[in-house]
Formats: sequence, C-alpha cells, structure tokens
Amino acid sequence: MTVSISGPGEPITLDIAAPIASAQDLLPVRVPTTRRYLMCPPTYFTVEYAINPWMDPTRPTSTTLAVEQWTALRETYERLGHQVEVIEPVPGLPDMVFSANSGTVIDGRVLGSRFRAAQRSAEADHFRRWFLGAGYKSVVMPTAVNEAEGDFTWTGSLLLAGTGFRTDPHAHGEAQEVLGVPVVSLQLVDPRFYHLDVALFMLDDQSPTPLVAYYPEAFSPGSQQVLRRLFPDAVIANDADAVCLGLNAVSDGKHVVMPLEATNLAEQVARRGFEPVFVDISELRKSGGGPKCCTMELRG
Ligand code: ARG
Repeated sequence: MTVSISGPGEPITLDIAAPIASAQDLLPVRVPTTRRYLMCPPTYFTVEYAINPWMDPTRPTSTTLAVEQWTALRETYERLGHQVEVIEPVPGLPDMVFSANSGTVIDGRVLGSRFRAAQRSAEADHFRRWFLGAGYKSVVMPTAVNEAEGDFTWTGSLLLAGTGFRTDPHAHGEAQEVLGVPVVSLQLVDPRFYHLDVALFMLDDQSPTPLVAYYPEAFSPGSQQVLRRLFPDAVIANDADAVCLGLNAVSDGKHVVMPLEATNLAEQVARRGFEPVFVDISELRKSGGGPKCCTMELRG
C-alpha cells in the first residue's frame, strides 16, 4: 500500500506496507580475518610463585585441567579457521603457556621480550629461538623490561603500550624504533590488571576505524582521556567483566573468544554485531591469565 505526500515540490510516494528494519538488520556486518597464532601447551603449568595478585601458591592447581582448557582454546581457534603454531614447553617454566608475553610481531618484524620477574626470564630465549627457527629474519631482543603483547596491543595503525606494573616505559620507545609503528603509552593503575591485555582488547583491528573494548578504571585519568579521544565509540566493560579477566579476549573481527563468565561484555559485543565464543579458563586464571595471554598473534 502506498501513500502520496504532496508539498511544495514533487509529490513523494511512500510504501507504508514495507517492513520496518529490525534491530538485527541494523547491526554492522562483522567480517572475520584468518589469523596465525603461537601457543604453548601448559604441560608444566602450576602456580609456585606469586608475581601478580591472582597467583596464590598455596591454592592447588590441576595441570590436567589446564591442559584440557588450553586444548579447547586451541581447538576453538582451529574451528574458526585460524592457524595455530605450537612451541615446545620447557620444564620449570610454568608460565610459558602465556605466550603473548614473549613477542610482538608486526609485518613480520619481531620484538622479543624481557621479563620483569626472574622466574620467567628464561622464557624469552626459547621464543627467540622459535622465531629464528620459523624463519623470521628480523628478531630484536629488547633492552628494557618488555612483556610483549601482555602490554602491547596493535590497533592496525597504532601500538597501544601499557606500563605501570610490568613493561618499562622505555620499552615503548624501543618498540617504536624496532617495529617502526607509532606508540601510544597508557598508564595502568590497578595491580589486578597488571598487563594491558587484561584491561583492553581489540574487537576490530582491520577497518579504518578500529574498535576496542576496555575497562576504564584500570587506567590513570590521563590515559582514560587518551582512550576516549582515540576511541569514542569503544565498548566499555564493567567491574564484573574485568574481574573474570573478560578483557583478555581474542577477536578475529567477528568471533570474540572470551571467558564464559564475561556475560555483560558478551552482550555488549553482540550488540555491536560480534559473536561471542565462550571458553573456560578457570584453571589458567589462577595464574592471572586468560585466552589472550595464551595467544601470541603472528602478523606477517
Ligand atoms: N602468571 C603470569 C604472570 O604473572 C601470567 C601472565 C599473563 N599474561 C598476560 N598476557 N597477561 O606473568
């Protein structure tokens, strides 16, 4: 059925029987891109020292359960079409499962890591050797403390760089020189969110307008202003999302692999057209880690 509206100009004809767009129709279409990840099985996982507030060596852990949860995470990536490379775990390095801390790879250039805690320092060289064995030509090891993708998030055009608990601010300048990308420093202020990747993640790093999700309270007031200025459209996580390490998520531009407890965050991202994919990381969380900590992205 049509109606005509006449006014000063040409009459307008409207089809009033046409269905009104549903909320679903208005959601942006999200397009996943295939990723390549480097992971390390938690064969020797345990919590035997405490270098962040999540870790309590008196609380029992199950390596079997950690391996099961890690395997499910790996299979989730493979089911989504991503390629997973695996580095051999090393006895005596229980945190080696958190591969995100051992390298930042952009356009095939590798900036390795230098850990703050002595207990983790040997991990850096195992990863350096993995990169060389995998054929990477440019592998540079940092001189300042640098916990890699734990504190570095690539937006597609900027490298967001956290500091405050782990990565030294001097590592930010070093990353800019070695990787040749602009770095934006962000100050972390809450010891529970000791790495940038437990306070912020990229939902979309491919489109010209990158989309992030973050927990504002993890950042200093000035850094919160920076984030608002850079990402006025960001998804804002709440306390409940943050305390289950919900921000430690991995998005391929459509699917968002996240801890199953992060229900508010899941709803927020679904409202933006993304598809939450839940994983159980309860065992790895005893060490302060989640899906992203177990996942280093190999870009180029
Ligand atoms: N127990 C590890 C540590 O404190 C957890 C590292 C988590 N990794 C991360 N990318 N946030 O170093």
